[in-house]
Amino acid sequence: MSMQRTLVLCKPDTVQRGLVGRVVSRFEEKGLKLVGMKMLRVDESLAGRHYAEHVEKPFYADLLAFITASPIVALAVEGDNAVEVVRNLMGVTNPQKAGSGTIRGDFGLNLTMNLVHGSDSLASAQREVALFFAPEELHDYEIALRKWT
Ligand code: RTP
Ligand code: MG
Repeated sequence: MSMQRTLVLCKPDTVQRGLVGRVVSRFEEKGLKLVGMKMLRVDESLAGRHYAEHVEKPFYADLLAFITASPIVALAVEGDNAVEVVRNLMGVTNPQKAGSGTIRGDFGLNLTMNLVHGSDSLASAQREVALFFAPEELHDYEIALRKWT
Protein backbone atom coordinates (compact mmCIF):
# COMPACT_ATOMS: atom_id res chain seq x y z
CA MET A 1 0.00 0.00 0.00
CA SER A 2 1.20 3.46 -0.88
CA MET A 3 -1.26 5.96 0.58
CA GLN A 4 -0.93 9.22 -1.35
CA ARG A 5 -2.66 12.59 -1.50
CA THR A 6 -2.99 14.35 -4.84
CA LEU A 7 -4.51 17.52 -6.25
CA VAL A 8 -7.47 17.55 -8.63
CA LEU A 9 -8.79 20.73 -10.20
CA CYS A 10 -12.24 20.83 -11.78
CA LYS A 11 -11.30 23.48 -14.33
CA PRO A 12 -13.57 26.40 -15.37
CA ASP A 13 -15.25 24.42 -18.16
CA THR A 14 -16.35 21.73 -15.68
CA VAL A 15 -17.97 24.37 -13.46
CA GLN A 16 -19.54 26.28 -16.37
CA ARG A 17 -20.97 23.10 -17.91
CA GLY A 18 -22.47 21.91 -14.65
CA LEU A 19 -20.31 18.79 -14.54
CA VAL A 20 -18.71 19.22 -11.10
CA GLY A 21 -20.96 16.65 -9.46
CA ARG A 22 -20.39 14.03 -12.15
CA VAL A 23 -16.63 14.60 -12.16
CA VAL A 24 -16.34 14.43 -8.37
CA SER A 25 -18.45 11.25 -8.45
CA ARG A 26 -15.85 9.51 -10.61
CA PHE A 27 -13.26 9.90 -7.85
CA GLU A 28 -15.70 8.98 -5.08
CA GLU A 29 -17.00 5.94 -6.93
CA LYS A 30 -13.46 4.68 -7.50
CA GLY A 31 -12.98 4.59 -3.73
CA LEU A 32 -10.76 7.61 -3.31
CA LYS A 33 -11.33 9.72 -0.20
CA LEU A 34 -11.99 13.46 -0.43
CA VAL A 35 -9.82 15.20 2.16
CA GLY A 36 -10.17 18.78 0.89
CA MET A 37 -12.61 20.61 -1.39
CA LYS A 38 -13.23 24.26 -2.23
CA MET A 39 -14.26 26.71 -4.96
CA LEU A 40 -11.85 29.49 -5.83
CA ARG A 41 -10.87 31.82 -8.63
CA VAL A 42 -7.32 31.27 -9.87
CA ASP A 43 -5.48 34.55 -10.45
CA GLU A 44 -2.43 35.14 -12.63
CA SER A 45 -0.03 34.68 -9.72
CA LEU A 46 -1.47 31.34 -8.60
CA ALA A 47 -1.64 30.14 -12.22
CA GLY A 48 2.05 30.97 -12.67
CA ARG A 49 3.03 29.04 -9.56
CA HIS A 50 0.80 26.06 -10.32
CA TYR A 51 1.88 25.86 -13.97
CA ALA A 52 5.51 27.00 -13.41
CA GLU A 53 6.82 24.30 -15.80
CA HIS A 54 4.63 25.70 -18.62
CA VAL A 55 5.02 29.48 -18.20
CA GLU A 56 7.55 29.76 -21.05
CA LYS A 57 5.66 27.48 -23.44
CA PRO A 58 3.75 28.74 -26.48
CA PHE A 59 0.39 27.49 -25.20
CA TYR A 60 0.70 29.24 -21.82
CA ALA A 61 -1.24 32.37 -22.87
CA ASP A 62 -4.26 30.22 -23.77
CA LEU A 63 -3.86 28.12 -20.63
CA LEU A 64 -3.65 31.23 -18.42
CA ALA A 65 -6.68 32.89 -20.04
CA PHE A 66 -8.69 29.69 -19.59
CA ILE A 67 -7.75 28.78 -16.03
CA THR A 68 -8.42 32.35 -14.77
CA ALA A 69 -11.67 32.86 -16.73
CA SER A 70 -14.12 31.52 -14.14
CA PRO A 71 -14.03 29.74 -10.76
CA ILE A 72 -12.68 26.25 -10.31
CA VAL A 73 -13.27 23.56 -7.70
CA ALA A 74 -10.12 22.17 -6.09
CA LEU A 75 -10.04 18.73 -4.48
CA ALA A 76 -7.43 16.97 -2.42
CA VAL A 77 -7.99 13.22 -2.73
CA GLU A 78 -6.37 10.37 -0.86
CA GLY A 79 -5.96 6.69 -1.60
CA ASP A 80 -3.61 3.85 -2.46
CA ASN A 81 -1.43 5.02 -5.39
CA ALA A 82 -3.77 8.03 -5.76
CA VAL A 83 -1.51 10.05 -8.10
CA GLU A 84 -1.56 7.42 -10.85
CA VAL A 85 -5.14 6.33 -10.18
CA VAL A 86 -6.39 9.91 -10.62
CA ARG A 87 -4.43 10.39 -13.85
CA ASN A 88 -5.91 7.16 -15.21
CA LEU A 89 -9.45 8.26 -14.31
CA MET A 90 -8.86 11.59 -16.11
CA GLY A 91 -7.44 10.17 -19.36
CA VAL A 92 -4.65 11.65 -21.49
CA THR A 93 -4.24 15.42 -21.91
CA ASN A 94 -6.00 15.69 -25.28
CA PRO A 95 -9.68 14.77 -24.81
CA GLN A 96 -9.90 13.71 -28.47
CA LYS A 97 -7.40 10.95 -27.72
CA ALA A 98 -8.54 10.07 -24.20
CA GLY A 99 -10.21 6.69 -23.82
CA SER A 100 -13.90 6.13 -23.29
CA GLY A 101 -14.71 5.81 -19.64
CA THR A 102 -12.23 8.52 -18.67
CA ILE A 103 -13.38 12.00 -17.68
CA ARG A 104 -11.65 13.72 -20.60
CA GLY A 105 -12.63 10.96 -23.03
CA ASP A 106 -16.29 11.10 -22.06
CA PHE A 107 -16.82 14.85 -21.65
CA GLY A 108 -14.26 16.79 -23.72
CA LEU A 109 -13.16 17.69 -27.24
CA ASN A 110 -10.77 20.60 -26.69
CA LEU A 111 -7.09 20.42 -25.63
CA THR A 112 -7.25 23.59 -23.52
CA MET A 113 -10.73 22.94 -22.11
CA ASN A 114 -9.90 19.47 -20.87
CA LEU A 115 -12.02 19.63 -17.71
CA VAL A 116 -9.61 18.47 -15.02
CA HIS A 117 -6.10 18.67 -13.67
CA GLY A 118 -4.35 15.94 -11.73
CA SER A 119 -0.85 16.10 -10.26
CA ASP A 120 1.62 14.20 -12.46
CA SER A 121 3.94 12.78 -9.75
CA LEU A 122 4.09 12.38 -6.00
CA ALA A 123 6.47 15.35 -5.75
CA SER A 124 4.08 17.50 -7.82
CA ALA A 125 1.17 16.31 -5.71
CA GLN A 126 2.81 17.37 -2.47
CA ARG A 127 3.75 20.77 -3.91
CA GLU A 128 0.34 21.38 -5.50
CA VAL A 129 -1.81 20.26 -2.54
CA ALA A 130 0.13 22.75 -0.39
CA LEU A 131 -0.35 25.46 -3.03
CA PHE A 132 -4.14 25.15 -3.00
CA PHE A 133 -4.90 24.09 0.58
CA ALA A 134 -3.84 25.42 3.97
CA PRO A 135 -3.11 22.64 6.51
CA GLU A 136 -6.38 23.32 8.35
CA GLU A 137 -8.34 22.84 5.10
CA LEU A 138 -7.18 19.23 4.82
CA HIS A 139 -9.14 16.73 6.86
CA ASP A 140 -8.06 13.51 8.54
CA TYR A 141 -10.99 11.22 9.15
CA GLU A 142 -11.90 7.57 8.88
CA ILE A 143 -14.22 6.17 6.20
CA ALA A 144 -16.37 3.58 7.94
CA LEU A 145 -16.54 1.33 4.84
CA ARG A 146 -12.85 1.60 3.99
CA LYS A 147 -12.16 -2.11 4.42
CA TRP A 148 -14.54 -2.72 1.49
CA THR A 149 -12.64 -0.51 -0.94
P1 RTP B 1 -2.90 19.20 -16.36
O1 RTP B 1 -1.52 19.66 -15.91
O2 RTP B 1 -3.85 20.34 -16.63
O3 RTP B 1 -3.45 18.14 -15.47
O4 RTP B 1 -2.75 18.47 -17.77
P2 RTP B 1 -1.65 17.42 -18.20
O5 RTP B 1 -0.70 17.13 -17.06
O6 RTP B 1 -2.37 16.27 -18.81
O7 RTP B 1 -0.91 18.22 -19.33
P3 RTP B 1 0.32 19.24 -19.22
O8 RTP B 1 1.36 18.80 -20.19
O9 RTP B 1 0.72 19.47 -17.81
O10 RTP B 1 -0.32 20.58 -19.81
C1 RTP B 1 -1.07 21.45 -18.98
C2 RTP B 1 -2.27 21.94 -19.76
O11 RTP B 1 -1.84 22.77 -20.84
C3 RTP B 1 -2.67 22.57 -21.96
N1 RTP B 1 -1.84 22.20 -23.10
N2 RTP B 1 -1.95 22.76 -24.26
N3 RTP B 1 -1.55 23.48 -27.01
C4 RTP B 1 -0.80 22.53 -26.46
O12 RTP B 1 0.06 21.97 -27.06
C5 RTP B 1 -1.03 22.20 -25.06
N4 RTP B 1 -0.36 21.28 -24.37
C6 RTP B 1 -0.88 21.29 -23.12
C7 RTP B 1 -3.64 21.47 -21.63
O13 RTP B 1 -4.89 22.10 -21.34
C8 RTP B 1 -3.06 20.83 -20.40
O14 RTP B 1 -4.08 20.36 -19.53
MG1 MG C 1 0.26 18.65 -15.97
